[in-house]
Amino acid sequence: MTPLSPGSRDVARILSDLTTSGADREFLANAELHLPRLHELFVQLYGDRPDGLERLASVVDLARRSWSERPPALKALDRDRESTPDWFESERMLGGVCYVDRYAGRLSGIRESIPYFRELGLTYLHLMPLFESPEGNSDGGYAVSSYRRVNPALGTMKELAELAADLRRAGISLVVDFIFNHTSNEHEWAQKAVDGASGFEDFYLIFPDREMPDAYERTTREIFPDDHPGSFVQLDDGRWIWATFYHFQWDLNYANPAVFEAMAGEMLFLANQGVEILRMDAVAFIWKRLGTTCESLPEAHLLLQAFNAVLRMAAPGLLFKSEAIVHPDEVVSYISPEECQISYNPLQMALTWEALATRDGRLLQQALERRHALPEGTAWVNYVRSHDDIGWTFADEDAAELGIEGYPHRRFLNDFYVGRAEGTFARGVPFQENPRTGDARVTGTTASLAGIEAGDAGGEDRVVLAHALALSSGGIPLLYLGDEVAQLNDYGYRDRADEAGDSRWVHRPFRPAQEYADRTDAGTPAGRVFARLSRLIDVRRSTPEFAGNELIPFDAHHDAVVGFLRPGLAGSSVLVLANVGDHAVHIAALTLSGLAPDAVDLIEGAHISLRPGRTLPAHGVAWWRVALR
Ligand code: GLC
Repeated sequence: MTPLSPGSRDVARILSDLTTSGADREFLANAELHLPRLHELFVQLYGDRPDGLERLASVVDLARRSWSERPPALKALDRDRESTPDWFESERMLGGVCYVDRYAGRLSGIRESIPYFRELGLTYLHLMPLFESPEGNSDGGYAVSSYRRVNPALGTMKELAELAADLRRAGISLVVDFIFNHTSNEHEWAQKAVDGASGFEDFYLIFPDREMPDAYERTTREIFPDDHPGSFVQLDDGRWIWATFYHFQWDLNYANPAVFEAMAGEMLFLANQGVEILRMDAVAFIWKRLGTTCESLPEAHLLLQAFNAVLRMAAPGLLFKSEAIVHPDEVVSYISPEECQISYNPLQMALTWEALATRDGRLLQQALERRHALPEGTAWVNYVRSHDDIGWTFADEDAAELGIEGYPHRRFLNDFYVGRAEGTFARGVPFQENPRTGDARVTGTTASLAGIEAGDAGGEDRVVLAHALALSSGGIPLLYLGDEVAQLNDYGYRDRADEAGDSRWVHRPFRPAQEYADRTDAGTPAGRVFARLSRLIDVRRSTPEFAGNELIPFDAHHDAVVGFLRPGLAGSSVLVLANVGDHAVHIAALTLSGLAPDAVDLIEGAHISLRPGRTLPAHGVAWWRVALR
C-alpha cells in the first residue's frame, strides 16, 4: 500500500500506466487535464490513508473503463456540450419534474407523454427517484437499494436508457437524482457492512454504544424528528448507525476512499445510461466531523469536486445540480464550474412565498440585489415549489436590516401557509413540526398555497406571478408538472399507510387527469392558469434577454413591487415588475424616466408608452422590453 504524495509524481505514474494500458487518445487528453486536480483533492481528503494512491489509481481505471463503454451517441453529446458550454443558460431552457408512477404509471407512460412535454416546451425532465428501494415507505424513492436497477414497478434500466435517448431526440435532457449521501438499509453494501463483511466494515458510521452518537448529536440538528430523534438509529444487535433522514436511510462514510470509489462507479454507470444532469441529493450532509454541525464542511466541497473531476474524464457532457437547502451563504458555496454547475435557488423560492404572504416585496428584492449573482458558467434552477417542503431559509442578518426578526417572522409564515393565520389565503400543511424547537416547514401544491383551493380571488394571479418570477429571473426555470393546470392538494395521502406520516405527499398528487382535460377550457382554473403560463413560457423562449443570469435591480418605489432589469446584447433590456400586493399600484412617470418612453409589453404583445407612468394591477406582472436612455 502506498500513501499519496503531494506534487506531480503520482500523477505522472498513473498517466504513464494509462498510456501503456492502451487508453484511447480522448480519454488520455481528459485525464491529463483533470487528473492533477483529482489528485490534489485526494491528497486533501485521503492524504493520511495508507491506501490513498491505490484508490486513486483504481478510480482512474474505473473512469477509463467507463469511457471505453460510453455509447458513441453520448460521446457525441459530450463534444457538443463542450463546444457550447453555456447551453444550459439559454432562454429556451425549461425544466419539468414529476414522479414516474404518479404522473405516468411507468417509464413507458413517460415516453408516451413526450408530445405533451414538447407542447409545453420542456428541455429538461427530472424524473423523481426511480431506483430499486424498500417496499412501503422509501422516502419517495430516496432510499436506494440499487443504483443499477430501476424499481420493477416502473420499468427497467434498459427502458430508462431508451427513454433518455428518446428524450434527447425531442430536445429534452434527462435528469435523475444521485442520492449519494446515503443508501437504503437494504442496499447490498448496507447488508455487508452490518454483517462485518471484509471491505465493507467502514462503509457506514456504526458505533457499538451511545458514546460517539451522543458526542456527535451535541452539535448536529434533527432533520426528520417525526421519524427519530437525533442523527442515529439503533440496529437490531444494539449498535448505532448514522441516519440523517429516515431510519432506513443510512449515511455513507466518505472518510473511507473505498466509498468514494464505489459511488463513482454508480455515478458513471448512470452517466452511461444517457442521464445528462445529476441532481446531487443532500450535498450538505456528506462529510461528518465531531464537534461540528456536520453540514457543509469543507470536505463536502472537496468530495463534490472530486466526483466532478471523475465525470470530466469519463462523461464530460454531464452537469451536477446541487440540492442544498440551507443558509444562502452555504447554498452559493456549492456553485462553481468545478463543483455543481447548477443549483436550486431555495431563497428566491421561499421569498416569493414570503412576499405573497406579507404583500411586501422588500426581502425578495434585497435577495435579488445581493444574493443573485453567480460565477460565470453556472446557473440557478428557479422554481416555485418542489416535491419537498418549503423552509424559510433567508438569512436573519438580511431580514434584520429591514427591521424583520427571523424567528417570529418564520413562525408567522408557517402559520400563514398552514392556514392558521387570520385572513390567510393558503391551504398548506405543516411538515416536521418540532414542538421542542418551534421549527416547522410547509407543504402544499402551488395552487393550494396561492389561494385557489380557498377560493381566494387572487389565487390564479399569484400562481402566475410566482411562475413569472421563476421564468424571468435567470437560469433554468423548473415547473412541478401538474402545477401548470393548477393541481390542488391531495389529502388522500392521509389514508395511505406508507404516506400518512409524511405530509409532503399532500403536494405530490397523481397526474390530475381532469385538470389536464380542462386545460383548453377558459371556464376553469386549470384552463386559465394553463393559458397564462403557456403564454409566459412562449414569451420567455423568444426573449434572448432572459438567457444567462445577469440582473440589475430596479427600484419601483413601492414596497409591494419587486423589480429588475434583464439586460440583453443589443442594448435592449426586459424590465420585470411584480406587484405582490392586493391593490393596484401606479409606477410613476419619474420612476420610469430613465427608460425610453416607447416600450413593448411582451406578455400582451403590444406597444406601450411609459411616459404617463403605468399601473400594475393587484398581483400583476409586467415584462416590458425597454431601452435605457
Ligand atoms: C432530499 C430530497 C428529499 C429527501 C432527502 C433525503 O432533500 O429532496 O425528498 O427526503 O433528500 O434523501
